Amino acid sequence: MTPEIPKTIIVTGGASGIGYAFCEHLAELGHNIAIADLRGADEAAAKLREAGFKAIGVKADVTSERDVAAMADSTVKEFGGIDVLVNNAGLFTTLTLKPFDQITNAEWMRVMEVNTLGPFNCAKAVLPALRKSGRGRLVNIASTVPIKGPPNMAHYVASKGAVIAFTRSLARELAKDKITVNAIAPGFTLSDGVLQSDLHNRIGDNARTAGRCIQRDQVPADLVAALAYLVSDGASFVTGQTLAVDGGGVFL
Ligand SMILES: NC(=O)c1ccc[n+]([C@@H]2O[C@H](COP(=O)([O-])OP(=O)(O)OC[C@H]3O[C@@H](n4cnc5c(N)ncnc54)[C@H](O)[C@@H]3O)[C@@H](O)[C@H]2O)c1
Repeated sequence: MTPEIPKTIIVTGGASGIGYAFCEHLAELGHNIAIADLRGADEAAAKLREAGFKAIGVKADVTSERDVAAMADSTVKEFGGIDVLVNNAGLFTTLTLKPFDQITNAEWMRVMEVNTLGPFNCAKAVLPALRKSGRGRLVNIASTVPIKGPPNMAHYVASKGAVIAFTRSLARELAKDKITVNAIAPGFTLSDGVLQSDLHNRIGDNARTAGRCIQRDQVPADLVAALAYLVSDGASFVTGQTLAVDGGGVFL
């Protein structure tokens, strides 16, 4: 079997948490990585380069059209193109859990801005390069919450439902350009942000694993092979799908 030609992959929110685990794994598979993040992108990319991998860091806020245009430009400048966008940046771990009628309009709009406008902006910014690639891949990081509907995070649940719907719509629009569009739906994962914000304790032991076939906590390493599959050449006939990686908590 001939080895796959390495791809150039942008991971938003890739400086920490699940995003960094994605970057590390994809770099180990030989891909070129562009880490786009509000903070820590350069440091995270330097860590990958020190380990012998090809990576750049780009400071970018996914809600800013200007930032994501610069993200696309610097990735093309460094690596000659873009094959894959992973829309991973999201607001979750810093959210205050509360009943929906206590969520302010500003909180609702901010979650929608980062979690839905962000992926939309980034997809638009990289589209010309993905079209050029001829084997483009867009992977949106959703969540299982739109399926389960947990209480006290209605803005987040609604935003991730939108991510799944966006994925399906783009899959139909972009197939003609040889771009697949899929989503990964992680279950509750002990990411850096979760651990730092103490969200795992705020949610509670039982809620974290409730309803899961596999009764243990999920960690970022549980997610990386699913992403590697979706960006691989072998997944070129898979599009519009949401792959739940959550120890069997939901069946899609
Ligand atoms: N941790 C979980 O339980 C869980 C479960 C399901 C889905 N997810 C999703 O996975 C993704 C990553 O989650 P995580 O737990 O690793 O989060 P995290 O808080 O640990 O990391 C998020 C990263 O995104 C970056 N970021 C935030 N806002 C940004 C912006 N506007 N522009 C650019 N970068 C930005 C942060 O700086 C950070 O590096 C999110 O989309 C989240 O909704 C997480």
